[in-house]
Amino acid sequence: MNNTLPGAPYFHYSDSGLMVEDLALATLAQEHGTPLFVYSKAAMVGALAAYQAGFKGRKAQICYAMKANSSLGVLQVFARAGCGFDIVSMGELARVRAAGGDPAQVIFSGVGKTREEMREALAAGIACFNVESEAEIEVLNAVAVSMGLRAPISIRVNPNVDPKTHPYISTGLKGNKFGIAHERTLATYQYAATLPGLRIVGIDCHIGSQITEEAPYLDALDRMLDLVQAIEAVGIALEHIDFGGGLGIQYQDEVPPLANALWAKLLQKIDARGLGSHTLMIEPGRSLVGNAGVCLTEVLYLKPGEQKNFCIVDAAMNDLPRPAMYQAYHAIIPLDKPPSPTQATVYDVVGPVCESGDWIGRDRALAVQPGERLAVMSAGAYCMSMASNYNTRARAAEVLVDGERATLIRQRESLTDLFRGEHLWE
Ligand code: LLP
Repeated sequence: MNNTLPGAPYFHYSDSGLMVEDLALATLAQEHGTPLFVYSKAAMVGALAAYQAGFKGRKAQICYAMKANSSLGVLQVFARAGCGFDIVSMGELARVRAAGGDPAQVIFSGVGKTREEMREALAAGIACFNVESEAEIEVLNAVAVSMGLRAPISIRVNPNVDPKTHPYISTGLKGNKFGIAHERTLATYQYAATLPGLRIVGIDCHIGSQITEEAPYLDALDRMLDLVQAIEAVGIALEHIDFGGGLGIQYQDEVPPLANALWAKLLQKIDARGLGSHTLMIEPGRSLVGNAGVCLTEVLYLKPGEQKNFCIVDAAMNDLPRPAMYQAYHAIIPLDKPPSPTQATVYDVVGPVCESGDWIGRDRALAVQPGERLAVMSAGAYCMSMASNYNTRARAAEVLVDGERATLIRQRESLTDLFRGEHLWE
């Protein structure tokens, strides 16, 4: 059992209640209202430092998988720290630019890139397209030729390795839509090498998300390195090896490997094959931001019942979709003082959305009253970036904290924002 608070030491209790760095979260909730996402800049920079330590002395490029949290203020933290970005849409490329990121350090993943997105990314001069199918290779080649350019590519390999995570976030198994089957990869490289609009620069693999064991990573790397050797043996040089993202975080009692410890093992394997001079690329998302953020919410009502007691809060599945989508666990703790199980009642913590699937936590022991505030932990990744306006609910505000300084990086949506662009028909 792991008793540390997710996000510690950046999130911790003091005499002023739950803190983010040097600020009391209760003060931020008071000032900005709830639901409110609060991020710790030091937690993001600290998570990045673990990867940087793991790659010390190597040619390496960390491309933050911005789908995890694509708010401009968050992207700016990573752009300033020298990260590249892993994008999956034209919208994400626009965000990189708006946040001051360098398109030349962008890699473009995803199974469904449109021609328009390819043109936009080629014109921007991105570093690499991670292509995911033979059909995409044809289209990318044609688009690049029409622009008089050569598109830099990696082929995303599907290594058929079970990452032992939730089925919706497993991506490297044969039955998944991602990547090109391991067995077909060499032939696909040989074919791509004949096309005038493509320039082969690397190889790519991403097996899933919230991976908390090292074995699937080590297996996938072995398979990938077999391919690197086979591809180079036929005379196709690879500049980089991209090993994707996927490293898990602590939500409850998981103990995922530390980024630098995991990479020490992976690098050993790469070096043992004499492949250590390749540039190493990775695409981490969750592990850089997941435990750098919390969502603050206010208790609206307590509703005791025969079978269940409900604690109804002002955040909902539109703000925090992970429990409804993946039955995910997020710790829920009080803002004013550490949890006191002795005075607690067991509640399902639910939001106001009109669906039984709208729950944030099940069977949680809480000592709370209406008007009190709670923090939903580990809410930095795949929460705000997946938030919706379901039930015509405005998306929450976001604050980035750096020491004692808090900056509102996204204002709460207004009611007019909610129907911007809509028209009555008569
Ligand atoms: N690279 C590629 C190609 C990906 O598809 C993903 C995530 C990443 C990198 C980053 O993976 P990470 O380091 O964040 O695990 N919404 C889900 C997670 C979906 C992950 C999608 N792909 C969740 O909330 O658990």
